[in-house]
Amino acid sequence: MTAWPVHPDGTRLPGVAYGGDYNPEQWPREVWDEDVRLMREAGVTVATVGVFSWALLEPAEGHFELDWLADVLDLLHANGIAVDLATGTASPPPWLSHHYPETLPRQADGTVLWPGGRQAWCPSSPVYRERSLALVSALAERFHGHPALVMWHVSNELGGHNSRCYCDVTAQAFRGWLRQRYGDLDVLNEAWGTAFWSQRYGDWDHVLPPRSAPTFPNPTQQLDFARFGSDALLECFVAERDLLHRISPGVPVTTNFMIMSHVRDMDYLRWGPELDVVSQDHYLEAHDPDAHVELAWSADLTRGTADGRPWFLMEHSTSAVNWQPRNVPKAPGQLARNSLAHVARGSDAVCFFQWRASRAGAEKFHSALLPHGGTDTRVWREVVELGRTLRAIGEVAGTTVRGDVAVVVDWDARWAAELDSHPTQDLTYLDRHHALYRALWDAGVTVDMVRPDDDLDGYRLVLVPTLYLTTDAAATNLAGYVEAGGTALVTYWSGIVDGHDHVRLGGYPGAFRELLGITTEEFFPLREGQEVRLSGGVLDGTTADVWTELLHATSAEVVSSYDDGPLAGVPALTRRRVGDGTAWYLATRTDPAGTTALVRQLCADVGIATHDLPGVEVVRRSGETASYLFVLNHTDAAVEVPVRGTDLVTDRACPGTVKVAAGGVAVVREEGH
Ligand code: GAL
Repeated sequence: MTAWPVHPDGTRLPGVAYGGDYNPEQWPREVWDEDVRLMREAGVTVATVGVFSWALLEPAEGHFELDWLADVLDLLHANGIAVDLATGTASPPPWLSHHYPETLPRQADGTVLWPGGRQAWCPSSPVYRERSLALVSALAERFHGHPALVMWHVSNELGGHNSRCYCDVTAQAFRGWLRQRYGDLDVLNEAWGTAFWSQRYGDWDHVLPPRSAPTFPNPTQQLDFARFGSDALLECFVAERDLLHRISPGVPVTTNFMIMSHVRDMDYLRWGPELDVVSQDHYLEAHDPDAHVELAWSADLTRGTADGRPWFLMEHSTSAVNWQPRNVPKAPGQLARNSLAHVARGSDAVCFFQWRASRAGAEKFHSALLPHGGTDTRVWREVVELGRTLRAIGEVAGTTVRGDVAVVVDWDARWAAELDSHPTQDLTYLDRHHALYRALWDAGVTVDMVRPDDDLDGYRLVLVPTLYLTTDAAATNLAGYVEAGGTALVTYWSGIVDGHDHVRLGGYPGAFRELLGITTEEFFPLREGQEVRLSGGVLDGTTADVWTELLHATSAEVVSSYDDGPLAGVPALTRRRVGDGTAWYLATRTDPAGTTALVRQLCADVGIATHDLPGVEVVRRSGETASYLFVLNHTDAAVEVPVRGTDLVTDRACPGTVKVAAGGVAVVREEGH
């Protein structure tokens, strides 16, 4: 299978690809000539075309009009710009739901989501799937041999607005999925714990999606519906991909992920292996002054879904977006910093939504490479400058990133951890992920995100935050890693339930009790705003909130304990030596000082170097013959970082350090590394 966007003649898209979504159908023909001229000026190498073009490509059912798209592809090709061709299936034309109203999605309370926005389709609808595949087929037949084509782009952000549908068509598909999973209704009854609240099913037809109910719907039903919903969208991708592989062999197929903290409905760690190239969209949260740390987290998780291979940044923004409550533009220099942060963490592309800012429609106030104000604008100047920088660092493409620390991520655990009727509503799955990640980011330590049953060998440190749902395989994997000499930290609300969301009995956390040498008899979540003080060991003098637990160290040593609160004197942090390995357990939600102290201690214990350069991001990409140190200065003062080599951005020698201006970037090809 092809692993990276390639021309049909077999050549790889060179360097770091640069470009974005191009929607020429919104503009008169004469504007297209200006578009390609300016694309060349900016150094654009790839355009994503046709993302929302279904209504123009198939104006009436079965009637295709593809000539205008052929003109666009020809024009781009004549100007040396490669095409990532979208299948256009993200947003059906109005005729689809007019003729087939059953394709419209419904919310849990039965509300229909009508057309008029985008993505108004039920992911399980056989009619939608049939009509979308007819379009894909027509496009692939027409364009599979086009010399501009380097990649197929299935749909767009699958599940962005329609990830969960609760309609009758979905109900039937959900039953089919459950039959495959459980085979027998008794097995489903057991898995869902339906002896509780008189929920036992005697007939498959009585099983429904977890629609709005008088009180908490069955948790395992909710969990299975989350799994099913993600699988249903993945099936849409796979159906298009298989068709494209058949009609357009050799051209890689992608679909753009949305790995951002607020998106939780798609299990991208499961999707990743199905894509020829993993591509990803990322938008900063304008309210977060440290949004670049969330960006780094997202980029590392994207690399995790790609199993470490280079990935493709399909979308981000040159400046403000239009869909947040307050859409703050990027500061000067931030466009380059954000772009290079993605590249530093494994992207071989820097693409944007979108090429030219729209005049009409819901996204007319979204930034673009070419703003409403044209080329005499600061955004355009930064866009041209970025094109130059990406050409200068082109040789980094194809190199990879390897983290020192592995963080275990699992979407089943996320879905299950955040179900209702839990000990506290203040606990969210990503909370400890972000806290630990932040401490590592500050320390300049690069993280790989791994699945619970991935090979952990070779990592000096493994962090396991909030793995509430833990399979036997995951528990065995972690125990094996520690027994073989590894160091692991498990945080609270991990190892509590099995894959069906059934409690592991005999003392919490059932999956890790033995490995950690502890047992917890009762959870003691704290009241809103309540804090407890910690003493002893690395957490001495710090505070914690949200979560505590009545924990006994059975074979672990106690490192830190609560000083006050409901559990004064009870262990909060423990450590158990297992041969050459060490298993730590953190039972409470430490404040940033505590989390930082703990993370730095763990790094020191296992010999991982840390730095003290607040706000400076340092990441290495390595290839067979060279390595590259990315230095991104997010502060407003110049910094100096030790490194020997040549800064590709400025083409200056770095005889022992590189000096990076306030807000600036450097990419140093290292000597002797
Ligand atoms: C993405 C989407 C684009 C555009 C962009 C705006 O989610 O794929 O089509 O809507 O957001 O930020």
